[in-house]
Amino acid sequence: VIGSGSVGVAAAYASFVRRIASEILLVDRDVARAEGEAMDLMHGQALVGRIVVRAADWSELDRAGVVLVAAGANQKRGESRLDLLTRNADVMREVIERLDRHAPEAVVIIATNPVDILTRLAVGMSARDESRVLGTGTMLDSARFRALIGDHFGTSPRSVHAYVLGEHGDSQVPIWSNAALGGVPLSSLSSLWSLDETTRAVIEERTRRAAADVIARKGFTNLAIGLVMAELAEVVLSDQRSVHTISVILRGEFGLSGVALGLPCTVGCDGVVGRLVPELSEGELARLRRSAELLDERARRAGIA
Ligand SMILES: NC(=O)c1ccc[n+]([C@@H]2O[C@H](COP(=O)([O-])OP(=O)(O)OC[C@H]3O[C@@H](n4cnc5c(N)ncnc54)[C@H](O)[C@@H]3O)[C@@H](O)[C@H]2O)c1
Repeated sequence: VIGSGSVGVAAAYASFVRRIASEILLVDRDVARAEGEAMDLMHGQALVGRIVVRAADWSELDRAGVVLVAAGANQKRGESRLDLLTRNADVMREVIERLDRHAPEAVVIIATNPVDILTRLAVGMSARDESRVLGTGTMLDSARFRALIGDHFGTSPRSVHAYVLGEHGDSQVPIWSNAALGGVPLSSLSSLWSLDETTRAVIEERTRRAAADVIARKGFTNLAIGLVMAELAEVVLSDQRSVHTISVILRGEFGLSGVALGLPCTVGCDGVVGRLVPELSEGELARLRRSAELLDERARRAGIA
């Protein structure tokens, strides 16, 4: 785990409790912070099992199967994720350069924001195969969307299939046209069950605003993204080939190329092993194109092509 701040530690904690690896190494330029977090987790080892968590140097990452990247500045109240770009692009350049040297075989999973543009930067820079670098993308947004839909129907979010695509940020696109409850398309539910326009608008807005709502209260978000990162790490380490809306560079999907954004992909031991291109309504497609244009424009302005 690169970066032992609030997100890196949440990812390490979730990975530790879920026992997805035999060893978890914490790397941070603030070495004391990484050491303190590792010590704190190790005091729970008797309750979890023999998983070693320790602070480490980059040079010790050579046997890592997965690297979770959460190094860099987080949003402050009122800031957007895109506002972090200049600060975190330099962090990402340093991280990828070091990972290529010390962990060339690992699958790299990036959460640092703005995650889509930094994934594009990382894929472009890294010597490893493109499929072995991915961003957490809209996986957290999709989880929030599913939870809100599940809540509306009094149903577990695990029985809700619904995606948010595009930017992990304000231009994200919730996809209603193929959302389903227990395999039944929402569009075909009886009127008693269906979601009216107002409820949909409220769910969309709450999904989009979710991080800001948390930041306004506790100052940062970390717990749910930690679960997302641990889940992706487990999917890679045990080759689960499950589908998640992660950030990848589009290669012709929806007629778009070169820009990284959230797309449903199959993830396994080699990273991204498949891409799904859902059929979208005209309105959703137009919104996705606008999201891609915005990300592309911001990346180019920052010299990331
Ligand atoms: N993708 C998502 O869904 C999502 C959700 C929440 C937060 N985030 C992002 O995760 C990132 C981390 O957030 P946080 O709250 O943990 O921040 P934080 O400030 O608590 O921690 C960041 C850590 O990174 C370390 N660091 C900075 N540069 C480094 C470098 N070059 N090498 C090694 N370590 C370095 C710092 O020392 C610090 O410990 C932010 O960019 C935030 O926006 C993403």
